[in-house]
Amino acid sequence: MKLDTHTFDALILGGGGAGLRSALALTLAGHQVAVVSKVFPTRSHTVAAQGGINAALGNITEDNWEWHMYDTIKGSDFLGDQDAIEFMCREAADIVRELEHFGVPFSRLENGKIYQRAFGGQNLNFGQEQAHRTCAAADRTGHAILHSLYQQNLHAGTRFFDEYYALDLLKDTHGNIGGLMVMNIHDGRYHVLQSRHILIATGGAGQVFRNNTNASINTGDGLGMVLRAGLPLQDMEFWQFHPTGVAGKGMLISEAVRGEGGVLKNSLGEDFMQRYAPHAKDLASRDVVARAIAIEVKEGRGCGPNKDYVLLDLTHLDDATIKQRLPGIRDISLTFLGVDPAVEPMPVFPTCHYMMGGIPTDIHGRVVTPDENGEQQIVKGLYAVGECACVSVHGANRLGGNSLLDIVVFGREAAKTISHELHQNRREKTQQAGSPETALCLDAVRQRIARWQNPAPSTDTLAAIRKALQHTMEMGCGVFRNQASMQHALQQLLLLQQRLEQVTLSDHSQVFNLQRLAAYELENLLAVAFATVHSALNRTESRGAHSRVDYPQRDDSAWLRHTLYFSAGHRLDYKPVNLHPKHHAAFAPTARTY
Ligand code: FUM
Repeated sequence: MKLDTHTFDALILGGGGAGLRSALALTLAGHQVAVVSKVFPTRSHTVAAQGGINAALGNITEDNWEWHMYDTIKGSDFLGDQDAIEFMCREAADIVRELEHFGVPFSRLENGKIYQRAFGGQNLNFGQEQAHRTCAAADRTGHAILHSLYQQNLHAGTRFFDEYYALDLLKDTHGNIGGLMVMNIHDGRYHVLQSRHILIATGGAGQVFRNNTNASINTGDGLGMVLRAGLPLQDMEFWQFHPTGVAGKGMLISEAVRGEGGVLKNSLGEDFMQRYAPHAKDLASRDVVARAIAIEVKEGRGCGPNKDYVLLDLTHLDDATIKQRLPGIRDISLTFLGVDPAVEPMPVFPTCHYMMGGIPTDIHGRVVTPDENGEQQIVKGLYAVGECACVSVHGANRLGGNSLLDIVVFGREAAKTISHELHQNRREKTQQAGSPETALCLDAVRQRIARWQNPAPSTDTLAAIRKALQHTMEMGCGVFRNQASMQHALQQLLLLQQRLEQVTLSDHSQVFNLQRLAAYELENLLAVAFATVHSALNRTESRGAHSRVDYPQRDDSAWLRHTLYFSAGHRLDYKPVNLHPKHHAAFAPTARTY
């Protein structure tokens, strides 16, 4: 196999908000940077983020980063690392102003300041009144941010490998990170991209569940390659189910709807959130609201012919507010539900939205892994930011509006780290490793490529296996789980693994590259599913989004710690939660009510 090679100071894997923020900083610092993206960058999933980005700007009420920090820690069910959360909340106001200067068209208040809406789990004064902290560009905030960052990168001169798929990390003979193997999706040719600094920003893996808000590209590609490189994933048992997906379909109906005054109702017409969260009601934390909806449906108070959803009612809002503040939601509702939300309530049900776990990193974006003595060590040259990373600012449950914040704060920070390292060793720019064919170890990735190289007919298909995987995860590891449901899921995953080992690709030349892509993606989804089920089975408590009916209580004495999952032997390890912020006293775990 003939391989073209290209060499860069740094490679950014993923063209979403996290990757583009990092790439921009590195390009502006004068480094040779390439972004590798399996889709045209403005199709990355950041584009779908609706409600907004959190920062204690105080444009509507007094606010400060300490209250934001407290809400984030409480929202995480105390599993979030307090040093990282503090860092993110302190950076928030500055990074939003920076985005404004990059050209993000935020919605405005009458006085010209950035519009900030109410979002779930966010309060003033350490849990008192509802905060207005989520800075919004109508209900298309991610779209606005992604396009602005892409324009800035074009202007700066960042190099893009659009529609290239990254298969695996490449190491040199000393085990150091040295490059990436990528496939050009158009012509199916493989290339080696060489660099001593690789940042993974591949986003989430929500396609592991049947109903989800994620783009079909969210298949955990960065996670799979990290596992294959022998590194762990952290806290993979924690998946956020957004309370309000389009019923039966899964697309996101933004929390902004409830932030603007929308109310959830059951078949009796009750505003049922009053029973589950008497103080915050519909704007409780997402895990709380998702469980409440699932319970309403389970106990027979669901709506519709099958009583399998609840209603999200904003008919009491005036048409102009809906059109101004929620134009995208209105479109989604009209398109996928045939419902005008100004006239009729929208049928909704929880849908997989976000992965709190991911590739373990420190607050500078550096990937970390335990050594044989359990000490956390930096993996030289490897970085991760955004949803694929676990820094961990979201712990067991993320607050709405903290995801867009996470990607830009840690995207910028990781770029600073890489730039600093590149400056420290300038020679690396000109004295890269020699020929990749000799310097980089390619055997493992060549075997992976060969596995999918020879088409032959088989009755089973990748699509059928992917569908069965999504169904398995939804049934076994959804909003509520227990030992039996997860054990069953594990058995199913083992069967799906056998099917994946035996399935072959059709030789239809028009689709062959896309089939290879689908095969690589499915390998990653299966790896993510195993990580999830093994991590979840072993955590015998309920915390945040990990809600076990057989262990309904949080257990800080045993489980105030992060899970680390290694794919070899499905091994689990644990590490402590960081309770040492730098500027504020730590917040001790307390009972979590809304
Ligand atoms: O509901 C939403 O608009 C989602 C926001 C988020 O996940 O941060």
